[in-house]
Amino acid sequence: MIGRALVVPRARAEEVRRALLERAALRTDVAILRGEGTVTFPLRPDVPIPSDWGEVVERTFSPHRPRGPGEFRELLPWGPELLADLPRSFDVIGEIVLVRIPPSLETRKEEIGEALLRFVPGARIVGWDRGVHGPERRRSVERIAGAGGWRTRHRENRLEIEVDVERAYFSPRLAREHALVAGAVAAGERVYDLACGVGPFSLTIAQGARAREIVAVDANEEAIALLRSSAARYPFASRIRAERARIEAFVESAEPFERAVFNLPREGIKYAPLVARAVAPGGRLHYYEVVPRAGASGRAELIASALPPRSAWRPVESHSVHPYSPSADLVAFLFERGPA
Ligand SMILES: C[S@@+](CC[C@H](N)C(=O)[O-])C[C@H]1O[C@@H](n2cnc3c(N)ncnc32)[C@H](O)[C@@H]1O
Repeated sequence: MIGRALVVPRARAEEVRRALLERAALRTDVAILRGEGTVTFPLRPDVPIPSDWGEVVERTFSPHRPRGPGEFRELLPWGPELLADLPRSFDVIGEIVLVRIPPSLETRKEEIGEALLRFVPGARIVGWDRGVHGPERRRSVERIAGAGGWRTRHRENRLEIEVDVERAYFSPRLAREHALVAGAVAAGERVYDLACGVGPFSLTIAQGARAREIVAVDANEEAIALLRSSAARYPFASRIRAERARIEAFVESAEPFERAVFNLPREGIKYAPLVARAVAPGGRLHYYEVVPRAGASGRAELIASALPPRSAWRPVESHSVHPYSPSADLVAFLFERGPA
């Protein structure tokens, strides 16, 4: 179908897309066109567009195709042998798409990237996700399609969270967990968010408006800066105090609070006894760990027995957050410290 359109250079496309959305000028029933160095946005007919935004023209647009999970493979004209190795899942963080690529498809990475760029609505850049590394769990990514940097705003639980996928840890697979923990916070509680990353637990808890105070701690200065810039947009986030510190040093002098969240799944057990000291009698600890499925039984009791003071802790609940590898899950544990 033919309609009014705005042609802009690719480098300005994201800025213009946001401005069009703010003015309710962007049509969302048809697909945006991406050319060599330009992006063409379909416009609503009656919304005026400033002349310095780009060139207003007429273009033919196609309606959005109906899409479902995993369908991006339909955009690749490959035979069944190649498709068998193609991952079905990918992550979307704001306008960034991340995909893991098996060694057999490394030479096809650009094709995979272009397919995802076309498939995911609003995608700006596609990265080959090479996993998280180092104590600060920073992600290595290689651009395989699209343009721009790795900073974005991710929407989850009615929040916009500032993320830089290379500089600070963030996983879009934890949104439900962030909401579950926020929902468990009782009125007037003080909450520690230890190893907070860019602060999705803290922001979601603050949005719930029941916590009296939230103290968010991470060793990664860039994660703390991102948390502060997300928090600056929300009046309710004034309850969050974000601090760059190592957990070991922080908990030494931390006043015990009614609740702590501690999400450092690969190394958590090393710090769990320290973290337990930051929870007041009668308080609760949300703790995360990667658990091999074969060794899951009895794990909660074993962790509880390692938390000080001895015999004070009991497991309340545990559940799988998501599969972590073919043989292990990321598991959420909730522990309660008995009264003094
Ligand atoms: C898996 S991320 C958790 C992020 C966040 N809780 C979330 O849900 O998105 C782990 C975080 O722990 C931080 N970290 C690792 N070791 C630390 C330590 N000893 N003290 C403080 N933070 C640490 C890393 O910088 C990283 O941001």
